[in-house]
Amino acid sequence: MEKGQKDIAVCFPFKKENVEDFKNNIKEALSHERVGHVILVGYNENETYRGISDFISTLKAEEKSRISLIIQKRLGTKRRAGKGDGMNTAIQYFVERGKEKFLHFYDADIKSFSRTWIDRVQLRLDEGYHVSRCFFPRAYTDAMVTWNITRTGFAYVWPHTILPDIEQPLGGELGFTREVAERLAKDKIVLEASDWSIDTALTISFARYGVKLYEVYIKEGKHHKLYGKLSDLETMTVECFDFIRENKNLRIDTDRMVYHKDNTVEVPQEYKTRIAFDIDGTIREFKEGWTEKMKSLLLEYFPSHIRERVSKAISDGDYDFMNPTLWYESYEIFMKHFDPTIEEWRKLLFKLWVLRVLNHTKLALKDPDASLRSLKEMIELFRARAGVKNRHF
Ligand code: DGY
Repeated sequence: MEKGQKDIAVCFPFKKENVEDFKNNIKEALSHERVGHVILVGYNENETYRGISDFISTLKAEEKSRISLIIQKRLGTKRRAGKGDGMNTAIQYFVERGKEKFLHFYDADIKSFSRTWIDRVQLRLDEGYHVSRCFFPRAYTDAMVTWNITRTGFAYVWPHTILPDIEQPLGGELGFTREVAERLAKDKIVLEASDWSIDTALTISFARYGVKLYEVYIKEGKHHKLYGKLSDLETMTVECFDFIRENKNLRIDTDRMVYHKDNTVEVPQEYKTRIAFDIDGTIREFKEGWTEKMKSLLLEYFPSHIRERVSKAISDGDYDFMNPTLWYESYEIFMKHFDPTIEEWRKLLFKLWVLRVLNHTKLALKDPDASLRSLKEMIELFRARAGVKNRHF
């Protein structure tokens, strides 16, 4: 990099956010000597958009000239319009209008974001990696989509690749080169990932392109707004699963891909025991909303040793059984038969995932270290079983 060159664009996609946190993050990005462009992509012209627009009008002319505030376009044609359309709009905007060499993304609501994150991501891009992505210490009861849907799904569908080893494949804090952005901007698979599936789509695409990928450990963690009951994650759970299912016939070979990551130090004790969601509220909700059609799908597709335990969970509140082995069997059934156009399949997937999370959570509360080991072993179990079966993929 030549001295004084502004070669990084930073994008914050947003929907409804805490405006004060968001303003701080914009200021941090603007204060970085290499950031030439800050792209803010809003879901629509809501209150957050107006708050940010007012804030921009108070900035100095030089700072204003480095900000673009835009509304996301509808780029996908099949899936819900969500975060994916926002990120894809930013990628296209950067490719068509930006001059910078690198594009970074960060969530708008992070309370612990600082300009040093930009340095830590950029360090690896400067070293020649094409993609540099953050990962964070997370509570042992958090990241339940990551573990039970995404990493398991990668192990199920692409057991022979490094995909299941990627620490946080749903991470939205990352940077990549202009060349990668140009490929993504034209990639149909990525453009169709208009909802929560975008992070999975990016991860899979980095593997398809055979990039050099680095995962950067941000040890201070990502402090952001938390969720309540697991139902807050229902849409994300289903959309992340469905994207993997839909793309299960993609041939991916990561033999040439270079993947390195930071070594992590021991996860701080507070993370090990922190409870990431409202357990009682989740259990209460689990019992509700079981329709006849959902029960008939259970009966038709699931073996008796699973469906009887599910029935007992609904009737007697006996929730603690969906261990990694039973989850593998269930996951396989969803992979084969799940139909995203049928609401009851979506609900059933979510309910069984809740049972999986509750089973894990019980262990995490009793023995946090054993629970983390068991998540890692679950990925290996999926990989080992699927590795034999899925050679045809
Ligand atoms: C995940 O699983 O990584 C999601 O962010 C929810 O915590």
